[in-house]
Amino acid sequence: MNRYEQVAVVLRERMEHGIYRVGDRLPSIRALCREFEVSVSTVQTAYGRLEDAALVEARPKSGYYVLPRQTPTVLPAPTRPAQRPLEVSQWDQVLDLVAAPGSDEILMLGNGIPDLESPTLNPLKRALAGLHRRSGRHGLNYDTLIGSLELRHEITRLATASGCLLHPDDVLITTGCQEALSIAIRTLASPGEVVAVDSPSFYGTMQILKALGLKALEIPTDPCTGISLEALELALEQWPIRAIQVTPTCNNPLGYTMPASRKRALVALAQRFDVAIIEDDIYGDLAFTTPRPKTLKAFDDDGRVLLCSSFSKTLTPGLRVGWIAPGRYRDQVMHMKYVSTGASATLPQLAVAEFIAKGHYAHHLREMIRQYQRHRDILLGWVEQHFPAGTGVSYPQGGFLLWLELPGDVDCVRLNERLAVSNIRIAPGSLFSASGKYRHCLRLNYALSLTPTVAVAVRKVGETVTQMMAEAETTTVT
Ligand SMILES: Cc1ncc(COP(=O)(O)O)c(C=O)c1O
Repeated sequence: MNRYEQVAVVLRERMEHGIYRVGDRLPSIRALCREFEVSVSTVQTAYGRLEDAALVEARPKSGYYVLPRQTPTVLPAPTRPAQRPLEVSQWDQVLDLVAAPGSDEILMLGNGIPDLESPTLNPLKRALAGLHRRSGRHGLNYDTLIGSLELRHEITRLATASGCLLHPDDVLITTGCQEALSIAIRTLASPGEVVAVDSPSFYGTMQILKALGLKALEIPTDPCTGISLEALELALEQWPIRAIQVTPTCNNPLGYTMPASRKRALVALAQRFDVAIIEDDIYGDLAFTTPRPKTLKAFDDDGRVLLCSSFSKTLTPGLRVGWIAPGRYRDQVMHMKYVSTGASATLPQLAVAEFIAKGHYAHHLREMIRQYQRHRDILLGWVEQHFPAGTGVSYPQGGFLLWLELPGDVDCVRLNERLAVSNIRIAPGSLFSASGKYRHCLRLNYALSLTPTVAVAVRKVGETVTQMMAEAETTTVT
């Protein structure tokens, strides 16, 4: 590495680690000459490189300043799935990901797990321990089917931030968002019927469709604005769609948030065709904007949106506390909840309610959002450095998941096999499609603490991709 490259790398690392923050004035050329014992032209070239990468800007007579991170230059292409209802496949691959035994040796770069080490979660652990000690019979007993009033009350207070006016009786507590989604889908559709989904789409929902013998109609989706309303309208004209299932805010895996105007238009479209919408808002509170974006439910004036969520991504998945606001389908949803798990576990609900009521949730979210946004930018930088040119990269508006679209024909299931020897795993894109599309895509997690080990692992993934592309080219040529 040249001297100027070394200086640029150090400055870049300092920006990534927040030593120099957005808007900060960077050290003068003279100061850096002294620090690195290099010439003025070396520092000028280093700054030139950072300017070319749009990381810093020179201001006349003032010096160099840190710029906000720009949208990646190559975004993933808008998706074009097969526009006909399909039976869902891919269960083996999903099982492989979700049933992988937890191990300290394997670095899971693609999982949907939040930061569980944050000290801002400590009050939650204390609330759980305290409740275990003092709750007596109530904590040991079945909760009501609808769930803890304390928690439902807190959820309705939180929902005002997303534009929803809910009464505690409008909300049912579930065992995670997975149960909320499963109940919603079973309420609305019977075997053989069709559910329209954004694409790529969370594999957990897809597998519910598979288990219930339903068909998925994958709708083209834009990596910035979400499900194509134009394509959805055509699909609604052509197919007997029972429900539309979308994750319009901080989408998993693409990270976009649909603009409010498109959310409103989506609800209007569903009204026109008299179809229900199942809205998954599990990452919505992790949006990088304040106030957080409105839900579809905020635009729903006739109760057709079933809003599903949980605290698995904002707090911890292990508590299994989720909820559903089912609108006009409340009675059927209540029945499905009963036949699904009956009441949800009592003490985790009370602990989450206490955590929110004491203001710890708001504090925790502020910290996590700041951290995830910073981590997104660091990971974007690593991807830019280590992945082949032409890699499409999403620009998440919240949450902690990044989606990559590889150039060429690299199969990410095979990539995972290649990475196994290095004890690294990514989430292959094919999990997120009913028919195994998106094999050349992968999902990465930036909730992980971005240690040098993780940096090396991301580099390893990028290098392996480059190698696989070169091998594919050689095979084509020979
Ligand atoms: C978009 C989405 N919805 C639902 C779920 C399931 O959530 P829970 O763990 O609360 O059941 C997940 C978990 O990965 C998810 O990413």
